[in-house]
Amino acid sequence: MDARMSRRRMLGFGGASLVVGAAAGAGIDRVVAKSGGDGGGSDVTSPIPFHGAHQAGIATPVQDRLHFAAFDVVTGDRAKLVRMLKDWTAAAAAMTAGKPVGAGAVGGPEVSPPDDTGEALGLPPSRLTLTVGFGPTLFEKDGKDRFGLKAKRPAALVDLPHFPGDNLDPARSDGDIVVQACADDPQVAVHAIRNLARIGFGVVSVRWSQLGFGKTSSTTPDAQTPRNMFGFKDGTRNVAGTETDALDKHIWAGRPDGAEWMAGGSYLVARRIRMHIETWDRTSLGEQEDVFGRDKNVGAPIGQRREHDAVDLAKLKPTAHVRLAHPDSNGGTRILRRGYSFTDGSDGLGRLDAGLFFIAFQRDPRTGFIRVQNNLATDAMNEYVQHVGSGVYACPPGVQEGGYWGETLFT
Ligand code: HEM
Repeated sequence: MDARMSRRRMLGFGGASLVVGAAAGAGIDRVVAKSGGDGGGSDVTSPIPFHGAHQAGIATPVQDRLHFAAFDVVTGDRAKLVRMLKDWTAAAAAMTAGKPVGAGAVGGPEVSPPDDTGEALGLPPSRLTLTVGFGPTLFEKDGKDRFGLKAKRPAALVDLPHFPGDNLDPARSDGDIVVQACADDPQVAVHAIRNLARIGFGVVSVRWSQLGFGKTSSTTPDAQTPRNMFGFKDGTRNVAGTETDALDKHIWAGRPDGAEWMAGGSYLVARRIRMHIETWDRTSLGEQEDVFGRDKNVGAPIGQRREHDAVDLAKLKPTAHVRLAHPDSNGGTRILRRGYSFTDGSDGLGRLDAGLFFIAFQRDPRTGFIRVQNNLATDAMNEYVQHVGSGVYACPPGVQEGGYWGETLFT
């Protein structure tokens, strides 16, 4: 079995198999039906390129589903860790292209487990992106420099301070390595994390993970803005994937920032934010709109008519979320939000365990998330939310052909 065959071709699925010869393996998935995953006309069956200057999954269009997994490294052997990162990279490049891991899920020797677990067979790439990040504990844990990386810890990779109202669960926080898997099909995202965990057996173990649905952000302003669990449009004012100047200024780490290996990378802050939706649902519409400073219907800022009208901060309550989070209230800082809603069943007290898995990318968390989160101390929304999980990670620059995740850090 040719390991480079796409999942679709391997199974010889319907119409796609008919064009194998003509397409000669190039962009074959493009011939199958299109469906606009983000409402922006993107083709969910076309793969998002894995290789490039920056990792995919940051400025690329936001997909519908998330599987976010934090891993602990369970070996002290640096060479094993590097080997695994190389294996992960090869698997990630294959899966994001819609191909199976290694020699695939079927057709191999009957006496050994297949290289790929198989549940994504026949599914299109679904715009899968896999984005890796390294947590502070990879550089130093309990005073130990386990992998000789301590001196390379970037100054920007700070431990996040305690914020008022935080109620963080250590079992849902931190981790040495994270992988953010985003795809339009949850099965494709879960398959990717599962196969990476499987490849990493003996080197890493999953510390915690989070599934997400219903993206709560947008990097494509022309697309319809999605809504969060409070029913409000979320992602109206975000850094767009096409804003190259803003990305360079606020999102991508640069050479002068200190850690040269991070140039072209970005810092990821994740927060599991529980939303008390039962309380929210008993709150009047007027109060809900005051909390955000936007109208619930079209998403216009208070005092304006259209969603993308400029925000007049003076017209918003001093405690409005948008007023406090706005760049003008934070020294001009901008972050790229890329979060998802979650509902993990109920909490045993008759309430849904629901909320927003907040993800933000920035050039430096000290001037990005930390600055904004401190300013949100008086946010009217705090009455309805609680941060229960947290992590900060350095996401290295993109992988070049033949390279591997974290190459600039380990060489
Ligand atoms: C459950 C928690 C949260 C909810 C439900 C929420 C919801 C919203 C909504 C509805 C908007 C307005 C639409 C938009 O411009 O995207 C918004 C804007 C924004 N939020 Fe949040 N948010 C949450 C947490 C946070 C956190 C933790 C931060 C950062 C520390 C943050 C930063 C921002 C920023 C920067 C904006 C854009 C402000 C602007 O430029 O106008 N949000 N959020």
